[in-house]
Amino acid sequence: MVLRESQKKPTFFIGLTIFFLLSLILLQRNHDPLRQTEVNTPEGASSNRVTKERTTAFPAIKQTRLPEASLKALQNQTLGFEKIYVINLPKRTDKLDAIRLSASVTGFNFEVIAGQNGANMSPKALPGPFKDSPGHDAIVGCWRSHMQAAHNIVNNRLSSALVFEDDSDWDISFRSQLVNFALGSQWLLNTPSGATPHSPYGDGWDLLWLGHCALAPIKDDPRRVLFENDPSTTPFNHRFNLGEIPDMAHYDNTTRIMYTSDGGTCLYAYALSYRGAQKILFYLSMSYYHGPVDFGIHDMCHDDSRAFRCIGVFPQIVDSHRGAGSSSKDSDISKGDEVDRKKGFSFNIVRSTRLNVEHLIDGQLSKIESQWPGEVPELEGPVKVSFRETFEH
Ligand SMILES: *[C@@H]1O[C@H](CO)[C@@H](O)[C@H](O)[C@H]1NC(C)=O
Ligand SMILES: *[C@@H]1O[C@H](CO)[C@@H](O)[C@H](O)[C@H]1NC(C)=O
Repeated sequence: MVLRESQKKPTFFIGLTIFFLLSLILLQRNHDPLRQTEVNTPEGASSNRVTKERTTAFPAIKQTRLPEASLKALQNQTLGFEKIYVINLPKRTDKLDAIRLSASVTGFNFEVIAGQNGANMSPKALPGPFKDSPGHDAIVGCWRSHMQAAHNIVNNRLSSALVFEDDSDWDISFRSQLVNFALGSQWLLNTPSGATPHSPYGDGWDLLWLGHCALAPIKDDPRRVLFENDPSTTPFNHRFNLGEIPDMAHYDNTTRIMYTSDGGTCLYAYALSYRGAQKILFYLSMSYYHGPVDFGIHDMCHDDSRAFRCIGVFPQIVDSHRGAGSSSKDSDISKGDEVDRKKGFSFNIVRSTRLNVEHLIDGQLSKIESQWPGEVPELEGPVKVSFRETFEH
């Protein structure tokens, strides 16, 4: 939305510079058709890996304990949340058109939250001395836009809402990823078997962090949900994160995991419960606070005393998209570097909805492209879900 670049730790300018450099490197990697990785099949792995063209891109889960009512709720127009919001600066109609179209092919609806420009805000409306930070207008505008999302949830008494920034992108299998995510979060939240929670994602969560640029697990919590054999898992060499991520060494490279999170960076997509939204308004608006909004949310997930329960997934299932054309369009506020991009790209997303939107409109699934052809193993069979309660050795 406002600025991914505004949110990097530890300092804004260093983060900004590194980000641009990495973006350039990544951009080049993305478009190097010769870059191929051998897929390592672990010893004894099943014969379910084949090399032939995969025709259906929608994996299904094999073992599901999701109650029928939860599954049904996940199929609705708001993906099992009470509402979906997209934060969009009113002048960026291009970004609104693009995410509206992406959402339509994925089959969900959203309402728009008008993004704020920090330059127009009264310093008296801020919960702390933001003026010390470089990139002040971007940081303040971004902070306020996300506060407005929490504000709307509280104001409308929503039990939950999913909030996107307007340059977000997701895999074409997003809906089945969410079914998996719901199964994982119900388990992490100790949903008794046979019970139907109010939210299909389980009850008792404050924040579900679907789209981030790094997300750490809580150190002493060994519980993990594993989704093995998932073709939408970002290939190892294309994982791009800015911050602490979980140790994935124990898992095959096509495994995605879920865990209770200690906090992350970037807010491409996250859900808040009503209580989660209340707490955000309290800690990040009513209390003393000055900093990038994702750092504040990170600290809420991290700090036990705030009892703010965050659940997340890695690799992330939503990330940010950089459209074709001038790269100066990426950021709403700064001018940015001027690279003329022939084709857009998205961080961490294998079969990008935006890059395939034309084929999705036409229903031509055989034309769906991976961002990293040849580097994603062709998997057969369903995504295999399992639950671990102890640390791996
Ligand atoms: C979708 O399901 C959720 C969870 O049951 C519910 O809160 C929401 O109102 C539903 N949305 C629509 C559009 O029916
Ligand atoms: C995952 O990929 C990386 C880089 O190619 C490789 O070093 C690592 O061994 C792979 N892990 C597994 C479990 O295959």
